[in-house]
Amino acid sequence: MTFDRRDLFKTGAAAAVVALLGEGCTSAAPVQGATLGFTAVPASLADAVAVPPEYQQQVLYPWGSPTGIAGSMPAFAPDASNSAADQAVQAGMHHDGMHFFAMGQDRGLLVMNHEYTDEQLLHTDGASPWTADKTRKSLHAMGVSVIEVERSSGGWRQVLPSRYARRIHGNTPMRIAGPAAGTPRMRTAANPAGDQVFGTFANCAMGVTPWGTYLTCEENFHAYFGGPKEAAVRATEAQRRYGTVPGSSWSEYWRFEERFDLTKHPNEPHRFGWVVEIDPFDPESTPVKRTALGRKHQESATCTLTKDGRVAVYMGDDSEFEYIYKFVSRDKVTPGTDAAARAANREVLDHGTLYVARFDTGGRGRWLELVHGRNALEAPNGFADPADVVVHARMAGDLVGATKMDRPEWIAVHPQTGEVYVTLTGNTDRGKAGKPAVDAANPRANNRFGGILRWREDGGDAASASFAWNHFVLAGDPKLPDAGVRYPRPDDDAFGNPDGLHIDSGGLLWIQTDMAGPRMGKGSHAALGNNTMLCADPATGRIKRFLTGPSGCEITGCVVTPDRRTLFVNIQHPGEVRVNGMPNSAWPDGKLPGSARPRSATLAVQRRDGGIVGT
Ligand code: FEO
Ligand code: CA
Ligand code: CA
Ligand code: CA
Repeated sequence: MTFDRRDLFKTGAAAAVVALLGEGCTSAAPVQGATLGFTAVPASLADAVAVPPEYQQQVLYPWGSPTGIAGSMPAFAPDASNSAADQAVQAGMHHDGMHFFAMGQDRGLLVMNHEYTDEQLLHTDGASPWTADKTRKSLHAMGVSVIEVERSSGGWRQVLPSRYARRIHGNTPMRIAGPAAGTPRMRTAANPAGDQVFGTFANCAMGVTPWGTYLTCEENFHAYFGGPKEAAVRATEAQRRYGTVPGSSWSEYWRFEERFDLTKHPNEPHRFGWVVEIDPFDPESTPVKRTALGRKHQESATCTLTKDGRVAVYMGDDSEFEYIYKFVSRDKVTPGTDAAARAANREVLDHGTLYVARFDTGGRGRWLELVHGRNALEAPNGFADPADVVVHARMAGDLVGATKMDRPEWIAVHPQTGEVYVTLTGNTDRGKAGKPAVDAANPRANNRFGGILRWREDGGDAASASFAWNHFVLAGDPKLPDAGVRYPRPDDDAFGNPDGLHIDSGGLLWIQTDMAGPRMGKGSHAALGNNTMLCADPATGRIKRFLTGPSGCEITGCVVTPDRRTLFVNIQHPGEVRVNGMPNSAWPDGKLPGSARPRSATLAVQRRDGGIVGT
């Protein structure tokens, strides 16, 4: 038995969704109050942000803005001449996952990831020649920002300076905790104890713990490790699986900072690919890598409580044919979000059970334990100890028979129903020769558009070992007859390649897209415009386009304030697409491409009448 459908489908509209989507996990509770009353925004290829006419938008904290650290607030240099030291106290590039930690009604901490770097834009003379200084600046342009913001009649503004302001980046000292800490795989020449590391980078999606700390996820960390191309022939199976193969890096870090040379320091990449916990309220605190949650191309660490008061963390691994994971803590969470609660819960994420998802036919699924000594996770199969299981979680997932997914990205939990939504952003290799075929959960070969899948844990308990699932949407242009597109309703706005997800406290589902730059406005994606954000009501299946982004950008990172009157959204990498070598956007500083260096930034979006967003 899973959950009682009679309690769930009280309206005709919801019943229609049931009919469309069939059995299994079917719909969320109705959203509180009126929903989706805003004017839908049309798909657009303009180099601008569009929101409904009854909304207003403000740009906050574009790349290079001072973070607000007292005595150290260098201004942004539009020619990218800021030094590596400047960049360490300024907004990083490529804003991604984000949360608003409220401090009263009109003030709070905005904590956000800086995912990766565009070296052409980051340095005055671009990426060549590459230098040691560029390596440092690049490392400083990733990581996490903590900024303080406040609202007045004029809207939101950044508090400068702020005692909370902090930049955590690719050289910030941090601690390693959990089952892999101190084990041989984590030891390096610089840290023989295997319990400390410099930095976090490739920070993509995120999570928030019940005790009020921020979780940042290390996604494409592999791209910063390199080495001589000839050494690729010696790469191990594990290195290939994680992408840490000499000759395939996105950067030349390894030529100037030895720890990034895979042939000299093969354990250094084991210290990345984790969920990192940060206390945003204590600028002196040391970030901690929580190895109990498993190592992967980490995307999302979405927390919810189990029925008996432990924490469950849902995680995606964003690569083709990778898995969805769940961690359930051993210990109960001490309630509260004050300093005492944060201290009391400081080891909760170090002890527990890691699971990986298997999606079966008939809308059923199981969580398979990744525990050393069980499910064949033993020495003869390459897992000598618990550290091996978490460091090589992907291979542990293979052994237990997890379901290979179409690139799981963000995960969101419905606050009223506990229903869990995950974006599967796409997988054009699905069904190709030598690659996995379609399956129940990943039903489209050459999946160009991605979709959103959802599940409900049996017994309504996040600690359950089994669940019911179905698809909320198989995205894409419904006018393409062979694309297998399926929306909950015929009047839904179309989109492609969902990635960011946020469910606000009222139960509205915010969907953000990451169509690849070369696809936007072209071919199968021609009708979908630039990347976009939509708002959905899970109870009725209605999906409406709320915001469209500037040229070349991705929309990612989203949080609605507790009073539901402000939506913070990140605009990542405007201008990533180059036309004749020139970024195709000058957002937000310029009108015409080429007139200004495009910059990732945060938007504060509010209704002009001060009402609740999305309703
Ligand atoms: Fe950084 Fe998978 O998105
Ligand atoms: Ca993403
Ligand atoms: Ca993506
Ligand atoms: Ca992107």
